[in-house]
Amino acid sequence: MKTAEIRQSFLDYFASKQHEVVASSSLIPGNDPTLMFTNAGMNQFKDVFLGQDNRSYTRATSSQRCVRAGGKHNDLENVGYTARHHTFFEMLGNFSFGDYFKQDAIKYAWEFLTSKEWLGLPEEKLLVTVYADDDEAYDIWHKEMGLPADKIIRIGDNKGEKFASDNFWQMGDTGPCGPCTEIFYDHGEHIWGGKPGTPEEDGDRFIEIWNNVFMQFNRQADGTMEPLPKPSVDTGMGLERISAIMQGVHANYEIDLFQGLIKAAAEVTGTKDLDSKSLLVIADHIRSCSFLISDGVMPSNEGRGYVLRRIIRRALRHGHILGATDLFFYKLVAALVKEMGEAYPELAKNQAHIEKILKLEEEQFAKTLDHGMKLLESAIADLKGDTIAGETVFKLYDTYGFPVDLTADIARERNLKVDEAGFDACMAEQKNKARAASNFKVDYTDTLNLEGETDFTGYDSLLNQGKIIALFKDGAQVETLTAGDEGMVVLDSTPFYGESGGQVGDKGLLSGNGIEFIVTDTTKEQKNHLHHGEVKVGTLKVGDSLSACVDEHKRQQTALHHSATHLLHAALREALGEHVQQKGSLCTYDRLRFDFAHFEAMTADELSAVEKKVNAQIRVNTPVTTELMDIEAAKANGAMALFGEKYDDEVRVLSMGSDNFSVELCGGTHAKRTGDIGFLKIVSESGIAAGVRRVEAVVAEAAYDYIANMENTISSIASQVKANRETVLDKVEAAINKSRQLEKDVQQLKAKLASGAGTDLAAGAKQINGVNVLAAQLDGADVPAMRGAMDQLKNKLGSGVILLASNEGEKVTLIAGVTKDLLGKAKAGDIVKELAPYVDGRGGGKPDLAQAGGKKPEGIPEALAAFEQWAQANL
Ligand code: ALA
Repeated sequence: MKTAEIRQSFLDYFASKQHEVVASSSLIPGNDPTLMFTNAGMNQFKDVFLGQDNRSYTRATSSQRCVRAGGKHNDLENVGYTARHHTFFEMLGNFSFGDYFKQDAIKYAWEFLTSKEWLGLPEEKLLVTVYADDDEAYDIWHKEMGLPADKIIRIGDNKGEKFASDNFWQMGDTGPCGPCTEIFYDHGEHIWGGKPGTPEEDGDRFIEIWNNVFMQFNRQADGTMEPLPKPSVDTGMGLERISAIMQGVHANYEIDLFQGLIKAAAEVTGTKDLDSKSLLVIADHIRSCSFLISDGVMPSNEGRGYVLRRIIRRALRHGHILGATDLFFYKLVAALVKEMGEAYPELAKNQAHIEKILKLEEEQFAKTLDHGMKLLESAIADLKGDTIAGETVFKLYDTYGFPVDLTADIARERNLKVDEAGFDACMAEQKNKARAASNFKVDYTDTLNLEGETDFTGYDSLLNQGKIIALFKDGAQVETLTAGDEGMVVLDSTPFYGESGGQVGDKGLLSGNGIEFIVTDTTKEQKNHLHHGEVKVGTLKVGDSLSACVDEHKRQQTALHHSATHLLHAALREALGEHVQQKGSLCTYDRLRFDFAHFEAMTADELSAVEKKVNAQIRVNTPVTTELMDIEAAKANGAMALFGEKYDDEVRVLSMGSDNFSVELCGGTHAKRTGDIGFLKIVSESGIAAGVRRVEAVVAEAAYDYIANMENTISSIASQVKANRETVLDKVEAAINKSRQLEKDVQQLKAKLASGAGTDLAAGAKQINGVNVLAAQLDGADVPAMRGAMDQLKNKLGSGVILLASNEGEKVTLIAGVTKDLLGKAKAGDIVKELAPYVDGRGGGKPDLAQAGGKKPEGIPEALAAFEQWAQANL
């Protein structure tokens, strides 16, 4: 069976058991600050397990793209060295949200694996594990499914503390979790490895293929386990592993899908060593890197982007090991699209974009590789003893992306060692920092623990009554807030928009009987709106009713910037191409910012084309319409969904402009008609990361202010040059031309002055050993002026040896001249060579005329004195 057929058959099986087939979500988890990458099929259902979200179904199935590199589940270092680890893989899963539990989960899994109608695996090749205390699961396997006792292995807390077990699964440090039962496949005696629970379990003989998790708890940050509202099921089966079994091969890398990639990797690196593990690493890494980029991650030095960068560099190093001499990694995207483009059309669509990013990163690493080598060479040169310091190894690793084993290889070639303990210490310190930094933002999920959701009325109104359902001070829940307190207020109903989708939160006032709470910001946590601010007057109590009034002016101007952002997005795609993907946005009342994928700075023409398109759409003044529909229908309608955003089943689809110029999913607040935006002016375009550009613009009042300011500037320029607005450009041009002409005139005057000075200077010549010797300084004279003076002096003296020095700012010029009759005695070239060092310069020339340039004006007097000494000694 081909991998694609297995994927389909799994979904078909569970569809036949009334499971809703749900599409894979993005690798960037939507709205989940606790998670680095989507690492399991259940991620997109996290809130459903927690009881914070409802779906129209209670059973679901999916084939989910996952990345396990960075974050809690990290397989990066194993890739290539075991038969079964990947950074990227597809997880087949079935899910029950308070519907069936252990019994059916086990029955379904067993039927799908063993029934002849489905995969038809021989039962004797399978064995299972259960969590040590889970007698219920044990009994289902033993009594109901008839598995002999020696095929059911109990696994306890084998990772050191309560619930830390291979048979207790948790998504992250917090969140849904529970005991699990895992199904293993025995690849046969000829492969090394032991059963789960034995010391040899890490071998490749017994491979876990399917994990069935019985979701029962929500793990809190302090480690306590809160029971979930309803016991649920979450399962995951690695598509690559099950494909290996179905295709009768042992290693995942031998399945159909990988063979094409490995062959392509061998070709682009030019290796003859087809058994090299490096080929597997590259074949794995091109999948994770391409899918991550396709889902909107960019290589960078922090967070997700840093993990992506490390995977890319690991691949590049393995290319090196294989002997690749040129850029190669990006060339594999085409091979990947060939293998997976059909199942993942977005991958095919983004091919050019992915190639560009990878190529850029590859070029950049080629540069750091060089810098890193230099650092290493100099560290080795300065080395006392035979061990390269841990800090150096770490710096190479961290700053130059130099993998430790590469440094170790080079050290070995020179009979040196690396200080691994020192490196580990630096690494541990960095990991601590990374851990602190990976709490991307304050996660109020546990602290707030609010049931229900705020009823948001702000699409239609800016004022309503709401009842206080919770108050917070310093992050802790309180019953009252009194005058002077800063805190957060949650109402059952509010018109205040909570920051999301790039639109800032509303400001305004909550007021009631003798109460005033100034709202400085509004955010959203789960489904509640949090009003942040300060109590000005009175005391707020839970249960009080307040009137919530949004600052209308700020909100309206913010909404106009938000609508304009949609038009800008669509216009950029029209002008630059479909690769323009939104990377971030911010809409405030006086500015908008839009970040997007694109490779080069936009030209002035492109910017003005985009600006024109947006303004044309503003002027057609079509109504901005919002429709509620289910997510699939929205996508079918061509609505642009953003990567990394999590959407409910029912979404708001926002359309504006002529012929649906822009159609996007958006929960923000907007203009009523495009004409309300008034006018858009782009104020800047810049690069913010490799392959990401930022456009900033203003609309409505802010655009008016911007233009008014510009006018003021023009008016003051006009008044400076005594012009009006019509004539200002001509006048400024004329002023510039005039100043250029003046500069020329000054030069000519200087030359004249210098030559005039020449005549006067002749009087200063001294007789040395019977020869006229003249040394003089002509400050401010440029080279032509000095040469003119030299000619004059030669004429005037008739016979002589002359040195002129000039100082123009930091620049020194020495010119030496010898009249023809004296050429037998002195050479101008020798003179300047001798004297140039005094002014920190160099020079040379012909016997009768030579010149030197220098940069030490304070050396001129010494040079002139040295000239006379030279004359004494040489003439
Ligand atoms: N969520 C479970 C896992 O990833 C099924 O193993």
